[in-house]
Amino acid sequence: MKKTVLIAATLLLISSPTFAGKMAMPTDMPASYEAECASCHMAYPPALLSQQSWKNVMSSLSKHFGTDASLDSKTQNDITIWLLKNATTRQKYSETAPENRITKTSWFIRKHDEVRSEVWKRASIKSPANCGACHIDAANGVFSEKNIKIPAK
Ligand code: HEC
Ligand code: HEC
Repeated sequence: MKKTVLIAATLLLISSPTFAGKMAMPTDMPASYEAECASCHMAYPPALLSQQSWKNVMSSLSKHFGTDASLDSKTQNDITIWLLKNATTRQKYSETAPENRITKTSWFIRKHDEVRSEVWKRASIKSPANCGACHIDAANGVFSEKNIKIPAK
């Protein structure tokens, strides 16, 4: 019985293509995304959120996580169109993110359940949204296990 469960779990792991091991930035990224959405944090790859979640993020920029990230309407429109075009389409990951946060989605919580709460608070990490603190190649959209280094402090 136990063995069956183990085999099933192993098969599941093998068959699910490494979700998000790699989430490269789509090549048609508008320059405004880097300029406007990567000054306070990394440029999050669009595949990290669903269309509805990106709509929610982009329609509330004046109240953006305690800060004002408003844009002129053309820039806002360009970025929104691109984010929606490249949002995740995989049903499993397409939930509407609570509080518009990648870090509150159930897949994120599941993938990070081994990270102890004390670790998130370390000075060089500070927030789960600070992907690059641990995923050393996050800027290139690489989140695979081999490219993780959790800072000791
Ligand atoms: C003025 C600074 C600033 C700008 C500009 C900005 N953000 Fe943010 N953003 C924040 C802060 C602060 C947080 C919360 C970070 C945290 O909790 O550690 C955040 C969080 C986020 C999150 C959620 C991260 C999580 O917890 O999963 C998303 C998604 C996001 N921003 C997208 C964008 C997009 C898209 C743009 C460009 C339109 C943008 N941000 C521009 C400051 C900014
Ligand atoms: C405290 C360090 C830390 C931070 C910060 C962090 N992660 Fe992770 N992440 C991990 C660890 C540890 C794993 C689990 C690796 C494993 O054993 O599979 C992981 C796993 C993942 C996976 C699954 C990789 C795979 O191959 O299945 C994704 C995707 C991911 N993280 C994305 C993110 C994103 C996006 C952010 C920022 C919004 C983030 N992580 C922030 C440490 C972190």
